[in-house]
Amino acid sequence: MWASKRAAAVPGSVFALMDSAKGRARANGRQIIDLSIGSSDLSPPDVVLAELREATRDPSTYRYPLFSDTAPLREAAAAYLQRRFGVQVDPNTEVLPLIGAQEGLAHLLLAVTDPGDTLLLPDPGYPPYLGAAAVAGLNVEPLPLLPELGFLPDLEAVRQDLAVRALLLNYPNNPTSAVADRPFFERAAGWCRSMGALLIHDHPYAELTFGDYRAPSALEAGLSGVVELHSLSKTHHMGGFRVGFAAGDADVIAALARVKGAVDFHPYLGIQRAAALALRLPEEVGRAGAAEFQARRDALVPALRDLGWEVALPQASMYAWARVPGLTNSVAFAVRVAEQTGVALSPGRAFGAQGEGFVRFALVQPPAVLREAAQLLGTVTTP
Ligand SMILES: Cc1ncc(COP(=O)(O)O)c(C=O)c1O
Repeated sequence: MWASKRAAAVPGSVFALMDSAKGRARANGRQIIDLSIGSSDLSPPDVVLAELREATRDPSTYRYPLFSDTAPLREAAAAYLQRRFGVQVDPNTEVLPLIGAQEGLAHLLLAVTDPGDTLLLPDPGYPPYLGAAAVAGLNVEPLPLLPELGFLPDLEAVRQDLAVRALLLNYPNNPTSAVADRPFFERAAGWCRSMGALLIHDHPYAELTFGDYRAPSALEAGLSGVVELHSLSKTHHMGGFRVGFAAGDADVIAALARVKGAVDFHPYLGIQRAAALALRLPEEVGRAGAAEFQARRDALVPALRDLGWEVALPQASMYAWARVPGLTNSVAFAVRVAEQTGVALSPGRAFGAQGEGFVRFALVQPPAVLREAAQLLGTVTTP
């Protein structure tokens, strides 16, 4: 009765359905192996936790943080972008702390669009994108990510007469774990400039990369008309701390700061200090966490292939995206798998129409547990 049209437009989540399937499996005495949620199970580096503990003992961190208080985090973010991607940003005008990339995106859309504007969203894509677009009252045009194109969008196939306000991309990608190279971002930025659209790049998996692979930044294609969202949730296993940053076009950052100023203050100063320290850590510290996810990938992917499932070997992210032969209803399948085996997966359909036929595994358990999960999957009656 009280829900606004805006609230009512936010799509429901199939994760609630998965939750009840897990509940039924538990009630039947099954042990749950939950691979359905992409929340890192690793801990942040000890020095980061020590910095936060120290900050909680400093009374000067207890007050509302003002913009000027965010300078150390903005400067650390700028130094990280320079060191890691060779991208130069002005920490005063081209960087803004976020309470996570998800918060950042929702407010960014409010900052740079008006109701009725058109947003191009990847399909499949991270489900909260649709919610954020609904809150902003946007017209969503799905951009298919197809396996035959390496899960990269075909921008040339977008209707030329479409007045696109913004294009949202995310590489390394959730849920497909596909990656994009620098020339791709240059093409995407060029396409956006020709369309008069803003390029938004959601980049929470920037450091969750395997072997010698390093993910580029969309900002390498220039800052004008480009904004990128970074997060410490995956790269530093700080999901619960809710911290990240936006960087890019100064106009966009200023608009985002205006909207956020009406909604929140900045993250707790102690969390800002911890995040600033994390961003300045030597690269090897982050590589240790990434190596653990790589070992998990190496345990799970061959075991899924042994089942006859089609899955590419991810170069990055914390997911495996598998096509199950003959699968036409991934939601019903994921529910059945959970009930029969206790293994909780994400149905591909939860990420969009193009996700049908696939399931997503979050690599959030040690290798032995992932092998056990694959073994259990072998006992499920086929789709
Ligand atoms: C693509 C993508 N964007 C954003 C987020 C959320 O990031 P944060 O914790 O910084 O809000 C996630 C989390 O899974 C994600 O997969």
